[in-house]
Amino acid sequence: MVQHTATSVVTIERFIIEQERLHPEATGELSGILYDMALAAKMIANKVRLSGLADILGATENANVQGEIQQKLDVFANNAIIKAMDHGGRLCAMASEEEPGIIPIPEGFRCGKYCLLFDPLDGSSNIDVNVPVGTIFSVVQKITRGRAGEMEDMLQPGRRQVASGYVIYGSSTMLVYTTGQGVHGFTLDPSIGEFLLSHPNIRIPDEGRYLSVNDSYEANWDEPTKLLMRKYRGLEGERKPLSVRYVGSLVADFHRNLLGGGVFCYPWNRKMPIGKLRLLYEANPLAFVCEQAGGGASDGTHRMLDIMPTELHQRVPLFIGSKRDVDLAIQTYAGHSELVGA
Ligand code: AHG
Ligand code: MN
Ligand code: MN
Repeated sequence: MVQHTATSVVTIERFIIEQERLHPEATGELSGILYDMALAAKMIANKVRLSGLADILGATENANVQGEIQQKLDVFANNAIIKAMDHGGRLCAMASEEEPGIIPIPEGFRCGKYCLLFDPLDGSSNIDVNVPVGTIFSVVQKITRGRAGEMEDMLQPGRRQVASGYVIYGSSTMLVYTTGQGVHGFTLDPSIGEFLLSHPNIRIPDEGRYLSVNDSYEANWDEPTKLLMRKYRGLEGERKPLSVRYVGSLVADFHRNLLGGGVFCYPWNRKMPIGKLRLLYEANPLAFVCEQAGGGASDGTHRMLDIMPTELHQRVPLFIGSKRDVDLAIQTYAGHSELVGA
């Protein structure tokens, strides 16, 4: 692996090509997907940056398959990714948080051997208040025969991902991804329109500094969850207290914890017994990144990347971040299995 430091001026395109050269069998299709995702990210970043000015704030009249009112930027980001990706000949299908079913590759366009699943804009409720939002993406290889991607291609466990990553539209725009060769971060230089390598080989601290959880749901948590949060807060057991940081954008909370150490929790609660976050295009892609950076991700019982999906917009409870903090969640639920969900 070519060793880069953050000071060397390495564009994402150059980095992707160097990574591809490590795999003589590579066809360049996966590299092409990553280029196209970087292009879509630049288009979305441009819109997000101007969202206070252009007519892109606020909600549309329509709700998505999740029953959530679509923000204008949700729709823009969704279309930007589809348009950037649907004719490159590398994908056989896509799936989006904003679309009920599989997004086929239009007739007349060549199909490739990969599927892309994505959350085009994560943290939508934060758009109008200028709090960081993000995009999350996951790439799996087609496993069915024939030209077009099918639902079976989408419903693969997270350990089958060949690439995943996210973009955070914050004080700067960063793209962070993994192809199973570590985690690498690129910062957009808007003056030249290039993502430049800024965070090579990201590693998450074993023990966190931050706890990200929306404890307004505490009344609906089960006993093991309440105990776990007391442990994270240093009120029980020997763990030193974590500082609570909760932005309300999964990508922003995850990114801060990835760089500084911490754990993001969206536990089971009586009002949302299967959790809120989606397995295929939120939990799994971030779990792949997190494990590649030395962290962990679980639904509280199972390793996230081992969960067998059953439907496209399936939700899961999520504990993701520093390995020791995720392990503490698994131990706490295992030690009180009779009370989980009670
Ligand atoms: P999205 O905007 O893609 O629907 O995701 C929102 C998610 C996630 O970004 C965030 O962590 C979570 O919703 C916040 O949920 P609560 O407001 O229930 O805490
Ligand atoms: Mn989301
Ligand atoms: Mn979203």
